[in-house]
Amino acid sequence: MNVPGFTMEVIRQGWCVCPDFLTARHTAELADVLREHWVRGEFDKAGIGRGAKRTIRHEIRGDHVLWLEDCTAPPVQQFVSTELEELRLAFNAAGYLGLHEFEGHFAVYPPGTGYARHLDRFRDDDARIVSLVLYLNQDWQAADGGELLLYPGDGTQQPITVSPAGGTLVGFLSAEVPHEVLPSRRDRLSLTGWFRRRP
Ligand code: OGA
Ligand code: MN
Repeated sequence: MNVPGFTMEVIRQGWCVCPDFLTARHTAELADVLREHWVRGEFDKAGIGRGAKRTIRHEIRGDHVLWLEDCTAPPVQQFVSTELEELRLAFNAAGYLGLHEFEGHFAVYPPGTGYARHLDRFRDDDARIVSLVLYLNQDWQAADGGELLLYPGDGTQQPITVSPAGGTLVGFLSAEVPHEVLPSRRDRLSLTGWFRRRP
């Protein structure tokens, strides 16, 4: 699937899944950077909400994150300035979304953790327009769990189930698609972020 096709599908139906967005080799390169930061203990427990309302609630959200602005590794900076920049421009060309910048983090969900059903847009900040998740897991098996469930539409249809296989990219409209992460049996690795418009 090409970049314009992906962006048009997100705009048309609210979400899109692109298996093999990255090659196994490129995926492994990003996963290696993630792991270097992880073993150095540089990740923080993820919170919910923002600003003064930010809290840590393990039963709701169990991942640990490292914001990409704190990661200067060339493969990551290159991915943001090349692949993600191409996506941003394609979204703007296809839908006049006015996407202005990308904010993102690496995420690790240790075994047994997930993220309860939620929307990515904050109640008091509507800058997030498009959510992106790129999975960095090698040889992910069905038995490993950790699926992403998307609930598009009016809530009557079956959820879309996405296995977090390395190289798969998921995009969806941040304000419109509720979603959840099911617990996994292995560390579940991803690069997750949002295209924002100017506040
Ligand atoms: C998030 C999120 C989904 C995933 O970080 O907000 O919903 O599949 N992630 O990791
Ligand atoms: Mn989310």
